[in-house]
Amino acid sequence: MEKLKIAGGYPLQGSIRVSGAKNSAVALIPATILADSTVTIEGLPDISDVQMLKALLEEIGGEIDFRDGEMTVDPSRMVSMPLPNGRVKKLRASYYLMGAMLGKFKKAVIGLPGGCHLGPRPIDQHIKGFEALGAQVTNEQGAIYLRADELRGAKIYLDVVSVGATINIMLAAVLAKGRTTIENAAKEPEIIDVATLLTNMGAKIKGAGTDVIRIDGVEKLNGCRHTIIPDRIEAGTFMIMAAAVGKGIIIDNVIAQHVESLIAKLREMGVNIETGDDQIFVSPGSFPLKSVDIKTLVYPGFPTDLQQPFTSLLTKTTGSSMVTDTIYGARFKHIDELRRMNATIKVEGRAAIINGPVQLQGAKVKASDLRAGAALVIAGLMAEGITEITGLEHIDRGYSHLVEKLSGLGATIWREEMTVEEIEQFKD
Ligand code: EPU
Repeated sequence: MEKLKIAGGYPLQGSIRVSGAKNSAVALIPATILADSTVTIEGLPDISDVQMLKALLEEIGGEIDFRDGEMTVDPSRMVSMPLPNGRVKKLRASYYLMGAMLGKFKKAVIGLPGGCHLGPRPIDQHIKGFEALGAQVTNEQGAIYLRADELRGAKIYLDVVSVGATINIMLAAVLAKGRTTIENAAKEPEIIDVATLLTNMGAKIKGAGTDVIRIDGVEKLNGCRHTIIPDRIEAGTFMIMAAAVGKGIIIDNVIAQHVESLIAKLREMGVNIETGDDQIFVSPGSFPLKSVDIKTLVYPGFPTDLQQPFTSLLTKTTGSSMVTDTIYGARFKHIDELRRMNATIKVEGRAAIINGPVQLQGAKVKASDLRAGAALVIAGLMAEGITEITGLEHIDRGYSHLVEKLSGLGATIWREEMTVEEIEQFKD
């Protein structure tokens, strides 16, 4: 087990490249199950969630070649093997195996998904969608059993706007008989990416990226080649970092439109942002930075996944800022850790109130989830002295080659093996 160490307080400069989108990758990989022949996905991030899904597809008979971010999946020998336990529980996105396996084999057994603990994360809307398509769904000892004689298109209104449910219903519906309409669908760029792959495979999907998606089922899907979109959350994390400790940083491989809500907030604070074709340049603007309030919303609103990293930046602004998370009301586990680093923050219900400016101090902290980890890395870069971050396995789920990428900007950051005593303390 390793920990991350950062010697903070130094300005960073240069160019940093964004990898392929994690939240697309974790849906694109299961989507390959639906094809009858080989699918190649280019530009996948080198993160543990991708490795985990690769192993899961191999478990059900997939033949996979994965190198330099390019994954080729031959799904022709896959079978509807039950996956009630094991790896499937380690990542939340394993729920996409439900939609893909149900769509292809008309049956699936998938252990209830794991992932970051952000408060309750129900999957009732996914299940409502599968049932509307004609599946019988039961929950037996922590695994979801899905079975259908045939899947028939249906009209499905999502009570909650959900990325996962929208994608999962698309996966199950592309091979169903007739038309499926998803109303109140989520509009995140990752949904368009998955719809693009499925369309290239031969699916008939209209309206992805709007709140009504129409899918006309087809008999079969074929292999194809697809390039993944850049990770807007990784890009956003780097932009926040650049605003916090940058002396001029180019974020490379980013679609500026995907991070518009963040650009608007950073500009409101006084940060300079220039956007190019697939680059964003972030440089210091007015000093001191102004405090701002943010409220997380579904896309194109401010993403919940950037709320935690943004909180670290707010500790250096003058005055009082409020961060409200309307998507995950309990996504505040990073706050206690930031307090250890000298931040003045209190949590009231679904909101955190940050008072600044303060100079963060290096400390020993623990990443409780992926984006809490990103928040602590940014805080570590801002802090005076050494910060030690445990819970690195969460960060490795979503940020590829983080140490190398940040070192490239001049950061002093490294991984170190944890001692036996530290591992014991970590478990407490
Ligand atoms: N919800 C329900 N019922 C459902 C599904 C969702 O009530 O059946 C609620 C959730 O509890 C939440 C809201 O709806 O309050 C939105 O959840 P959504 O389904 O959109 O989230 P998700 O698909 O489980 C994805 C990302 C998350 C990201 C959210 C919100 C993946 C694998 N995960 O989760 O990413 O926070 O959308 O944008 O795509 C991360 O990358 O760190 C991460 C957690």
